[in-house]
Amino acid sequence: MISQRKSLLGIRELDPDEILEILDTAESFKEVQSREIKKVPALRGVTVANLFFENSTRTRSSFELAEKRLSADVLNFSASTSSVKKGESLRDTAKNIEAMSTNMIVMRHGSAGACHFLDRHVRGSVINAGDGQHEHPTQALLDASTLREIFGEIEGLKIVILGDIEHSRVARSNIHLLTKLGAKVTVCGPPTMLPVEIERLGVTRTSDVRTALRNADAVNVLRIQFERQQEPLIPSIREYAQYFGITEDKLRESGEGITVLHPGPINRGTEISHKVAEDHSDVILRQVSNGVAVRMAVLYLLYGGGEVPS
Ligand code: CP
Repeated sequence: MISQRKSLLGIRELDPDEILEILDTAESFKEVQSREIKKVPALRGVTVANLFFENSTRTRSSFELAEKRLSADVLNFSASTSSVKKGESLRDTAKNIEAMSTNMIVMRHGSAGACHFLDRHVRGSVINAGDGQHEHPTQALLDASTLREIFGEIEGLKIVILGDIEHSRVARSNIHLLTKLGAKVTVCGPPTMLPVEIERLGVTRTSDVRTALRNADAVNVLRIQFERQQEPLIPSIREYAQYFGITEDKLRESGEGITVLHPGPINRGTEISHKVAEDHSDVILRQVSNGVAVRMAVLYLLYGGGEVPS
């Protein structure tokens, strides 16, 4: 059970039952979000610190809203305006924040493994909000929550993850989650953006977008993670858009009704055309809404769980 764990560091270490426990609990919190007063007293007296060492729009705002809707006290920490700039280490920073009687830390960090490191050095829970190119567990959970709303269950779905798989924590967490819940996953992108031996994670690989999309139920479109690339991996953005960008033509050829997901931020005209982004904005924004409920569920369960308070 997730409520018996100290922290959520990745999807890789979760059992399918624990993933479903989070997704089912998130359903109750979706109902809370539809109320006029979107607040329950579940984490009253609990202090959550949000440590963001990398930029974020969705994850950071979503965690903050989730914490406030659970009645937690919230401490927002931005590395760019902190004493990290004066050379303070991650461990010392976290120890000092914990000394102010915080109970949980939500952290985004540019280094893979930073959340595991922190978890070994603090007493409270650590929630991974994205660590380097390693994992982004709550993103995969909110993607799955959205797929369950559309398809009912994940088992048996054919899902394509398209783009810069090599540098994507979203791809890694999605692969772990979807394969654990019985989906068939294809990863697709330029050969330079597909990790060596990715098939070991139980996925099929291809660089042919049209083959990947044929008969797929959904495609999760990823941004090119230029900030993590050591050298150019594609000849040009224009060619990437032509061969790998999701356009109306490619979707039309793939058969009717494919669901398009995007974790954001979107680079319109590169990995997704402006028209496809507009036509599928309902689902893409539903992912964002579901992120709040999923993060409420994770915070709530890690703090002990039990019946969701009304
Ligand atoms: N999907 C996602 O992690 O977006 P942010 O970088 O804006 O948090």
